[in-house]
Amino acid sequence: MAKSAVQNRGLLLSSFKESLQIVDLPSPDASTGSVVVAVLATFVAPYAANVYNGTMQFNLPLPMTPGFSCVGRVHKTGADATSLKENDLVFVDPVVRGRDSADVTFLLGHFEGLHPAGRSLMENVWRNGTLQKFVAVPLENCFRLNENRLVKELSYTHAELATLLPYAVAAGPLLETANLQAGETIVIGPAGGTYSGAAVEIALALGANVVALGRSEEKLASLRKVLGDTERLQTVVMTGEPAKDVPTLQKLLPDGADVHNNWTPTGASEAIYLNTVGAVLKRNARVVLSGGTNTTEGLPNGLVVLKDISVTGKFMYNPKTVQGLIGFVSSGLLKIGERSGAVLRTFGLEQSLEALEVATKHGSWKDYIVVTPNDA
Ligand SMILES: NC(=O)c1ccc[n+]([C@@H]2O[C@H](COP(=O)([O-])OP(=O)(O)OC[C@H]3O[C@@H](n4cnc5c(N)ncnc54)[C@H](OP(=O)(O)O)[C@@H]3O)[C@@H](O)[C@H]2O)c1
Repeated sequence: MAKSAVQNRGLLLSSFKESLQIVDLPSPDASTGSVVVAVLATFVAPYAANVYNGTMQFNLPLPMTPGFSCVGRVHKTGADATSLKENDLVFVDPVVRGRDSADVTFLLGHFEGLHPAGRSLMENVWRNGTLQKFVAVPLENCFRLNENRLVKELSYTHAELATLLPYAVAAGPLLETANLQAGETIVIGPAGGTYSGAAVEIALALGANVVALGRSEEKLASLRKVLGDTERLQTVVMTGEPAKDVPTLQKLLPDGADVHNNWTPTGASEAIYLNTVGAVLKRNARVVLSGGTNTTEGLPNGLVVLKDISVTGKFMYNPKTVQGLIGFVSSGLLKIGERSGAVLRTFGLEQSLEALEVATKHGSWKDYIVVTPNDA
């Protein structure tokens, strides 16, 4: 059914040399294959400002409205929607996939991906992201949230539900690539980031034994405290010197590790801790590289070959994982938001520029920045 026209408003990125502006925008329409979502809460990644000011050199099509995943309410559906209805509460997955090619992937309002056809799809069809009141998104990117369970019974706010994004990013490598099982041992490092910290939480929710690596005892102590000091979580302060760190890990894990999930940050000149963790990997261990470093150096070839170790990269996640993650939260297996120790800083649409600044300064694991363009 057609809804009355609405005045749209949001961020406009016209040039990497100019500041973002908050302006009135055309209202998107729901053509076949799409859904118009009224954006309730959109997650602002800690590095978002550096994407939108050109520092990260993403080739975004300009002008455009930036903005990553969101939680929103279906405003209007295209003619081919068979299940989604107006007013449904949805999580919008920002991973846009080519409908006729699995090779084509880009991130809505955020990253054009590696495939020229993805860049073209972003430019010509799904150019605009979620830092606006109304956004048109692919039908298949909308995951209905059980509002009765999540909002009424579990009392999650829309902003809290918007923080599903880092968990989805962390769930991809663990559920899909590593196929991590309850009772297995996983080493995660560096473990203090927005995504790597979420990986620790997902691994614990899956029933794994987790060894989280970091360089600061203070941060690792905070990780243990926030996650409830469970005996399935152990932390190790790494010196960065394999000669010292290998014996420490060997002592902690005499039987070795089944999985290593590496989250080396962008710009690092080596895959941090990879070489060291290699020394405690079991035969048939799975190594999943999730970080942003440009090098895969670290694991000795002989070790990988002689121990039948699989080394796989993982970008984001599949739709099934989003569905599974929503199930984790709905069942109470995974707690997110304030009850999980998170601080949420929320900003209205008109304060979006401040939100980006605060995200740069404070955004981190359990310190989440969310913009709320519509109230309900
Ligand atoms: N695979 C995907 O689909 C995907 C999706 C999104 C992002 N990423 C990438 O994943 C990476 C990790 O992201 P994130 O947000 O979890 O973390 P992040 O903020 O990029 O990195 C922070 C973590 O790295 C540690 N660290 C930084 N420099 C270090 C050094 N020289 N030695 C040891 N540790 C160091 C920090 O330790 P301290 O806590 O001690 O400072 C902290 O634990 C990024 O490159 C990001 O772009 C991947």
